[in-house]
Amino acid sequence: MKPIFYITGSSRGIGKALVEHALKTNNCYVYGISRKQSVEHERYNHISIDLSDANMLNGLELPFDAEADKVILINNAGMLGKVSPFGKQDNELIIKTHILNAIAPAVLSNWIIKKYSETASQIVILNVSSGAARYPVASWGNYCSSKASLDMLSRVISLENSNGKVKTFAVAPGVVDTEMQSEIRQASSSDFPDLQRFKDYKDNEQLSDVREVAERLMRIVNNPEGYKDTLLDVRKL
Ligand SMILES: NC(=O)c1ccc[n+]([C@@H]2O[C@H](COP(=O)([O-])OP(=O)(O)OC[C@H]3O[C@@H](n4cnc5c(N)ncnc54)[C@H](OP(=O)(O)O)[C@@H]3O)[C@@H](O)[C@H]2O)c1
Repeated sequence: MKPIFYITGSSRGIGKALVEHALKTNNCYVYGISRKQSVEHERYNHISIDLSDANMLNGLELPFDAEADKVILINNAGMLGKVSPFGKQDNELIIKTHILNAIAPAVLSNWIIKKYSETASQIVILNVSSGAARYPVASWGNYCSSKASLDMLSRVISLENSNGKVKTFAVAPGVVDTEMQSEIRQASSSDFPDLQRFKDYKDNEQLSDVREVAERLMRIVNNPEGYKDTLLDVRKL
């Protein structure tokens, strides 16, 4: 058994914790994909890509290993975009948020299924979604809608692969103590009506630890047959 992981957003937060957890799997190899590198390991290779750059994605080629038995793609890289209502958004950030959160996972999913469907015995795609994909949050329009797109992408890939060789999930990780949360707390109260709720999560120590969240996500990766739904929430597992 030679598992190969491709994990985006590997330089910090949930993605880095996922890389560190994955590297505990015997014999596995991990490719981390983000703009910066922060992991060093003999079974880790870093690929520096700006996944919000459409031109970069258009010509994307990743390392391929014909001997990989199980391949896992974790589309974790994500951004909040500008926390503002529509009318005060910035076009460049609208575009980047949708490319990073929704288009990059579609391109990478297409790549991994195309490359490995003849050689690997199993392909697992785990998309790190958000509760905000499933209900509207004022001033998070691009985040909510791009994560909703990621949920639907996951449902379509599941539908296309009902034979079980390709298992796909979109998982909301809960509210996790990362840089993304500190970015949320820095929003202006006039633009973000829910600001106090997020400050309270931090003050009341209600944020989840990245290592616990990574451990729960890896349970899905290690036992994909154990989960029949495509859309999951780690708080309900
Ligand atoms: N934290 C939460 O409470 C929470 C809640 C729900 C969902 N999520 C989701 O969980 C995932 C991880 O979030 P996090 O909280 O760990 O965020 P984070 O701490 O901000 O880390 C984001 C990661 O994505 C990478 N990234 C950002 N922009 C990128 C780009 N243009 N190209 C390539 N990589 C890029 C960053 O690496 P570089 O800067 O090195 O590129 C970093 O490794 C995201 O999809 C987020 O939407 C988080």
